[in-house]
Amino acid sequence: MRKPLVAGNWKMNNPIESSRTLLQKILYNAEMLDSILAKEENACSIDIALFPPSVYLREAQEVLTGSDLHWGTQNVSAYDEGAYTGEISASMIKGFGCDYVLIGHSERRCLYEKLELDQYVLDQIVAEKYAQAISHDLTPIVCIGETKEDYESGKTEQVIARLLDILIEHKGAHSLSKAVLAYEPVWAIGTGHSASPEWAQQVHAFMRARVAAHDKKTAQGLRIIYGGSVKASNAAAIFSKPDVDGGLIGGASLDVEAFTHICFAAALHQK
Ligand code: 13P
Repeated sequence: MRKPLVAGNWKMNNPIESSRTLLQKILYNAEMLDSILAKEENACSIDIALFPPSVYLREAQEVLTGSDLHWGTQNVSAYDEGAYTGEISASMIKGFGCDYVLIGHSERRCLYEKLELDQYVLDQIVAEKYAQAISHDLTPIVCIGETKEDYESGKTEQVIARLLDILIEHKGAHSLSKAVLAYEPVWAIGTGHSASPEWAQQVHAFMRARVAAHDKKTAQGLRIIYGGSVKASNAAAIFSKPDVDGGLIGGASLDVEAFTHICFAAALHQK
């Protein structure tokens, strides 16, 4: 059994006052949802994790401590400590009560691309961040996805396999039992056009099979979530697919009603 996960990536949105309110409203709705789900025959409990900007971690900790909700950061340094201006280490993140970190989001990768680092080098950096997260008992949500250009030239599997193989080579397939994978096609992020449920299923099944080739048990338990224009209106169709274990939500995670609907859809689709 895999417990669905719905993660809200707030990106660089919301002033501090509305962040606190948003945290409180999401928490309130999540607790209401729990009592509704308790009466639904086909529903299961889900994990919800919120990723506000790091400067609001204190607010997240104050509002969410003692609840069932989790929180985390949108990035983590590849290093333990030292002269790395602007970076935040895994142990600092842990100090704010976080359970999760996002790693390898395409909106961060594109910052490096401007420095003209190639994709293989970027994947190596992602693997170092992954190792940091695991060794500090944080659950990494590793984002993987192809650009529009890669999609159109049929390179989706190649792009995904490259990063997965590097993670497995660095830390072993079993390390993925402490991680979550997020398939986020770059062409679907923030565009309003999600991947079709069938396409998401095909790619998720490929990811699971790639891990299973090394470690079947880990692959079976591995949560693979989908991100890219998930909304209240399309979440149920996407989550109904057998290898989709929830979602990584951007824009819709800032809208309490939409986010609650998405959580509800995930709770009806346990795998
Ligand atoms: P949207 O849901 O806004 O497309 O963003 C997806 C995303 O990037 C989540 O990390």
